[in-house]
Amino acid sequence: MKNILFTGACGYIGSHTAYSFLKHTDYDIIVIDNLSSGFVENIDFLQSTFKDRISFIKIDLSDSKSLENVFMESEIYAIVHFAASIVVSESVSNPLLYYSNNTKNTLDLIKLCTKFEIKNFIFSSTAAVYGEPENNPISEDSPLLPINPYGASKMMSEMILRDTASANQNFNYIALRYFNVAGALNDNDYQKNRGLGQRNKNATHLIKIACECAVGKRDGMQIFGDDYETKDGTCIRDYIHIDDLAMAHLRALEFLEGEKRSEVFNVGYNNGYSVKEIISRLKEISKVDFKVEIAKRREGDPANLVSNNTKILNLTSWKAMHNDIDLILKSAYLWEKSPMSLIK
Ligand code: UFG
Repeated sequence: MKNILFTGACGYIGSHTAYSFLKHTDYDIIVIDNLSSGFVENIDFLQSTFKDRISFIKIDLSDSKSLENVFMESEIYAIVHFAASIVVSESVSNPLLYYSNNTKNTLDLIKLCTKFEIKNFIFSSTAAVYGEPENNPISEDSPLLPINPYGASKMMSEMILRDTASANQNFNYIALRYFNVAGALNDNDYQKNRGLGQRNKNATHLIKIACECAVGKRDGMQIFGDDYETKDGTCIRDYIHIDDLAMAHLRALEFLEGEKRSEVFNVGYNNGYSVKEIISRLKEISKVDFKVEIAKRREGDPANLVSNNTKILNLTSWKAMHNDIDLILKSAYLWEKSPMSLIK
């Protein structure tokens, strides 16, 4: 049986991706996570559904000895590397945390890949590598000019991957540049169960915060800046449903298996929505008119980030199955209403 090592799969994107892999493939999954921001409950749910096809080891990626033991003890076929610090504003105030957790830990993981001759690596990158792009939608060959340490830490990891792949014929990677992910597991089998969704110790993401307002977990929220050069003055983002983002990882592995070469793909829908549009759609869906005030801009936020997704559509079998902002918001809102979301 082939083992895939998932780093950071106790978190939101990793746990949903693990679900997709377990459901659609025969691979077994070994999860390593330090539980700094992830939830062991996500693994409990996956184990209750897929039994012993998924195992969990609590390890911090900076603990190189324990990490190497994992490689020694199990034959690893591929790595899907999610573990990272991901809050843009925190990266501005604590950049070294980001260069260390994101870039250095990725470097150490790649070193182990070369030592143990791992052939396939899928990397969670981000639209933040583009910084403040001149043109939207952004294609993968746009210049990489990150405007915050989070984006820079991911860009550097991409470069390490690129150079390692060009020096090692047998090592290939896919970097997936995520746009703004939202929503919760939309599998019909589990619609009542709602076992997976976005859990956060301290939410910072727009849709999560707005949903918390709609269900009464917060009294209100702020819009960070309404003086951007956009249609209504608030920032534009390309929101992608978590299930589509999860499937992109599976399609990326199929690409690596078929093509045996490295690539970088944007993962988004080529749709832009402003902060104001998101909040007003959610108010309509939830029928709750929560309090919203305008605040000053948040440091490190680009005005406009919309994905050109032609490349992933043309080169892989990935499809946008949930490209509907109301469906994304409804799925995030229903998750937030469910008791499962209360575990913090
Ligand atoms: N926003 C608010 N109020 C809030 C929260 C967010 O106005 O309470 C605004 C932000 O200022 C921004 C937009 O909503 O303009 C989206 O912010 P998020 O925090 O939801 O997401 P970001 O765009 O900052 O970042 C996310 C991921 C990054 C990724 C990026 C790619 O966190 O990892 O999307 O677009 F790089």
